[in-house]
Amino acid sequence: MSLAHQPQPLKSSVSLGALTISPPVVLAPMAGITSPPFRQLCRRQGCGLAVTELTSAEGLARGQAKTLHFLETWPAERPLAAHIYGRDPDIMARAAAVAESLGRFDSIDINAGCPVPKIMRRGEGAGLLRDPNHLKRVVQAVCAAVKLPVTVKTRVGLAANRINISEVAQALEEGGAAAIFLHGRVAAKRHAGPPDWSLIARIKQERSIPIFGNGGITSADEALRLWRENGVDGIMIGRAAIGNPWLFAEIACRLENRPWTPPTPAERVEALLEMLDGLIKLAELEQRHRRRLRYSAEESACMQFRTHASLLLRGRPHQRVLMQRLMSFHSVADVRATLHEIFC
Ligand SMILES: Cc1cc2nc3c(=O)[nH]c(=O)nc-3n(C[C@H](O)[C@H](O)[C@H](O)COP(=O)(O)O)c2cc1C
Repeated sequence: MSLAHQPQPLKSSVSLGALTISPPVVLAPMAGITSPPFRQLCRRQGCGLAVTELTSAEGLARGQAKTLHFLETWPAERPLAAHIYGRDPDIMARAAAVAESLGRFDSIDINAGCPVPKIMRRGEGAGLLRDPNHLKRVVQAVCAAVKLPVTVKTRVGLAANRINISEVAQALEEGGAAAIFLHGRVAAKRHAGPPDWSLIARIKQERSIPIFGNGGITSADEALRLWRENGVDGIMIGRAAIGNPWLFAEIACRLENRPWTPPTPAERVEALLEMLDGLIKLAELEQRHRRRLRYSAEESACMQFRTHASLLLRGRPHQRVLMQRLMSFHSVADVRATLHEIFC
């Protein structure tokens, strides 16, 4: 019988060197979404590890202020992984060393899954899947440059007819990766269609380093089912946490057999407004690196906030009308008034 069909006891933590991920439930990196205030909110709700936004190794190796902004962190979000992308082993190694020297990360995560054509064309992101031997050299170079554990976030292949995750996972383990975050979709599918968890389960059986399964988790029930049925060491959650960081608290309660009490609408609104304050502070920091400003810090934070707020509306009556209102948010006062009107 395959592992995929045997219920597995769930681990309460996974250790990668000095880093302990407890519970082994990780917030996935999402460019434009997983900002420090959002990560902090998810950590507070019990996610075991968060990952920064995608950061260019080249910009980091050159010490560019604009790139360093992507590695901005808030005090209460550790443990935290710095998520870097690139192709050149030497540049990736230098970038990892820069991230480590900041003293605010607990691991380095290499992106080998980004499907954006501009990035893939340069052989970066999912482009690294084309040559597992080269990817192994990247991992080896990064591991040699830092003391922190090095993980890799990747996909099962480039396309349905180019699934090479067994070869890739072997290269990652041999290169020294401490764990793999494995998204069960091919790069050609981006984020659409059902992920193939049976491939994730297969890699868990083939490899001895921890494997975290990712893709398509939408609820606590599903998270625990996919985790248990596929025998993985832990799970990684992306879109389901947007607008609902409380999913991590629900999973943590279920893991510890504690009753789950959902937050009240007023608590949800207050937590999201606190995040909005954080987004404004972050935008103010970012604007220091810009010469010309199109929007004020408040406006740009409100725009970034729309994605979070729109997902908060999932399943509510009059969702379309409310969405239209949300899309016109420009000030904290607008956001506060509208959220209170809708939810409280
Ligand atoms: C808006 C958005 C941005 C993303 N950015 C990244 C990224 O920078 N690096 C990465 O490895 N994956 C990125 N992903 C992929 C997620 O980390 C995750 O693998 C994917 O969404 C599947 O998980 P989910 O079904 O739980 O959302 C992104 C996904 C979304 C939706």
